[in-house]
Amino acid sequence: MNLKSFGIITYIVLLGIILFFIPQVNASENSCINCHKTLTPFMEVQQQFNQIRIQHLERNVACSLECHEDRVRQLATANYQQWSESIHAVKGVTCDMCHGGNPTQATKENAHTGINKTVDPQSPVYYTNVPKTCGKCHPNELASFENSKHFQKLEDLKLAPTCTTCHAPHRFTVLNQEEFRNFCGNCHSVSKKVAPYDIPVQAEYLLGQVNKLKFNIDMSNQDIFWAKKNGTDVTEAQAHADNAVKTLGTLAVLWHEFNLTHFEDQVDTANMEINKAESIVKPTPSPTRTAAPKSPGFSSLIGIISFLAVVYLIKKNLRE
Ligand code: HEC
Ligand code: HEC
Ligand code: HEC
Ligand code: HEC
Ligand code: HEC
Repeated sequence: MNLKSFGIITYIVLLGIILFFIPQVNASENSCINCHKTLTPFMEVQQQFNQIRIQHLERNVACSLECHEDRVRQLATANYQQWSESIHAVKGVTCDMCHGGNPTQATKENAHTGINKTVDPQSPVYYTNVPKTCGKCHPNELASFENSKHFQKLEDLKLAPTCTTCHAPHRFTVLNQEEFRNFCGNCHSVSKKVAPYDIPVQAEYLLGQVNKLKFNIDMSNQDIFWAKKNGTDVTEAQAHADNAVKTLGTLAVLWHEFNLTHFEDQVDTANMEINKAESIVKPTPSPTRTAAPKSPGFSSLIGIISFLAVVYLIKKNLRE
């Protein structure tokens, strides 16, 4: 490695470290965080409550922390804990950015100025106002969402999901493929009477297709890499693969239109690009060249066994 590239790498690493710490520094000057952090259930006095609860339980007295704690205070506690583990905490998206209030004020009364109760239709986190509140930082998702039937129904004050229905506050996680079927089925089911009923199955299938697309892109990039090493001109193949990557990048936002046909079309388009790339770097060999031996020879058996061993190892690693 020459001196110049060493310098560049050091610079990038330092920048990374600085960027990593900036949000934390800001967050620690934020009164919402400072105070709500101390509401953690593991404070001395709350640990005592916990002790009492355990003693009660030992004596078969059904009781929970709720006997001793006011409900809102508990929510404020739980919300801090969930938030502190979220990507929002890492990126310095503090409580006031969604709830309002004044984070430079130390007392609760002053800091809470302008914060309405969650159930107040004026609150920025009232369910119909949530898309706009999130949209300040996620404008593309909001724009897509505004095109959806979900948004229309939400505006009509009907039963429909808002951003936080799907992205649990305050962890703000993204549902995975397995969680989908149950989740969409909360509304899209015969018993809940929100048509179309096949949505949960379709949604699960489509997210599966997205995962497959990611896999195909990885594979084709590897094939392109090896073809290039072997002296093949990969310019065109790379262009097709890049198109697929570009489309993949738009899918998460597009998803929020909840137009599954349009979504599927885009996934198919990206898969077609991958097929084109593959047909260039891995043209189907002519039958004469690959004419299979009548029975698998010893070397192909060894080949199959080692392939299976590699697949097994990869799967095992993935599970760990
Ligand atoms: C000095 C402590 C303190 C500070 C500072 C503070 N809070 Fe609170 N907050 C609390 C407590 C305690 C509660 C529990 C309910 C109560 O007692 O009012 C609470 C409740 C809340 C609620 C729930 C309101 C409801 O009734 O639905 C929200 C939202 C909230 N805080 C946000 C914030 C934000 C945003 C900030 C910063 C701008 C902030 N808090 C600053 C102590 C504080
Ligand atoms: C990214 C936006 C966002 C951030 C950041 C955020 N909240 Fe919230 N918060 C919401 C939304 C949305 C709701 C309404 C939840 C719902 O619909 O159930 C809410 C609800 C609440 C409530 C009312 C009780 C409840 O669960 O409904 C409290 C208390 C609260 N938040 C405290 C906090 C505290 C404390 C922080 C910072 C540690 C924080 N929030 C950070 C979006 C946010
Ligand atoms: C002040 C800006 C801000 C607000 C307001 C905000 N977010 Fe975020 N959100 C971010 C940032 C920054 C990230 C980190 C990823 C990124 O850069 O896109 C993020 C990431 C996310 C992620 C991705 C999590 C993951 O695991 O990939 C989800 C989901 C999310 N936000 C949902 C919401 C929802 C729902 C709301 C409204 C209740 C909201 N956000 C409000 C700034 C914000
Ligand atoms: C009905 C459920 C649902 C609703 C409503 C919803 N989302 Fe999502 N959101 C998802 C799913 C599922 C994904 C992951 C999509 C994927 O991986 O292709 C996602 C992904 C995201 C991401 C991560 C994008 C990325 O690049 O990885 C953000 C940010 C986000 N949503 C914000 C929002 C905001 C803001 C709203 C409201 C305007 C919203 N979501 C409404 C289900 C929903
Ligand atoms: C809180 C209830 C609720 C949840 C949860 C919910 N939906 Fe919906 N959804 C609705 C309603 C209401 C409609 C509008 C139905 C109508 O047109 O009458 C709708 C419509 C749709 C449509 C449009 C259908 C059409 O005819 O164009 C799609 C697609 C959809 N939902 C997908 C999803 C997916 C995917 C999930 C899970 C991530 C989901 N929904 C979760 C309530 C919900």
